[in-house]
Amino acid sequence: MKELQTERLTLKPMSPEYLESTHEYASDPENTVYMLFLPNDSIDDTLNYLKGAEEEFKKEKPSFYEMAVILDGKHIGAVSLYLNESGDLAEFGWMLNKRYHGKGYGFEAAKALMEYGKNELGIRHFIAHCDTENIASRRVMEKLGMVCTGEHGGRHSKNFKEERREFTFEIFF
Ligand SMILES: CC(C)(COP(=O)(O)OP(=O)(O)OC[C@H]1O[C@@H](n2cnc3c(N)ncnc32)[C@H](O)[C@@H]1OP(=O)(O)O)[C@@H](O)C(=O)NCCC(=O)NCCS
Repeated sequence: MKELQTERLTLKPMSPEYLESTHEYASDPENTVYMLFLPNDSIDDTLNYLKGAEEEFKKEKPSFYEMAVILDGKHIGAVSLYLNESGDLAEFGWMLNKRYHGKGYGFEAAKALMEYGKNELGIRHFIAHCDTENIASRRVMEKLGMVCTGEHGGRHSKNFKEERREFTFEIFF
């Protein structure tokens, strides 16, 4: 997997090289409030995630792509695509360190990965989910041209005792 370059960002394959910077946001309850399986309780959880991401890039056909988002040489977050078995559908994920929110980096990184998925991997259908109160994530989906195709309950997030509601957004090419 090559690096992807945007106007302000570089996307590089995730690896344990980014352990401390990843754990800073992945263990932060505020930063991860709308995430399903975060925050991570221990740095070993973060390390295992990074090792898994690194291993996947060694495969001839990775089933997921976890990319580190780099700004001026500093690791500030991650954007990901998880493919289905036939490889024509992929689900997005994104998370930035909260110190870098609201500057358009999330959209810029996701847009670059969407273009890569479309042009290099042949993905024709992108999907994303978010908590209905996660306005920033929803806006990234809208700015990507994705359309809301569903709203439903049954979302079980680590941070909430009660069941949450979520949106599904999709785009087809
Ligand atoms: C979701 C996330 C990656 C977005 O990254 P980002 O760089 O902050 O996003 P962008 O700056 O590209 O766009 C955010 C948009 O949401 C809008 N927004 C953010 N918070 C908002 C709020 N409370 N009310 C209204 N709009 C809001 C911004 O104005 C912006 O829209 P605009 O470009 O039309 O002005 C980032 O907020 C994040 O890491 N959140 C924590 C992790 C997370 O929740 N991940 C998603 C799980 S589904």
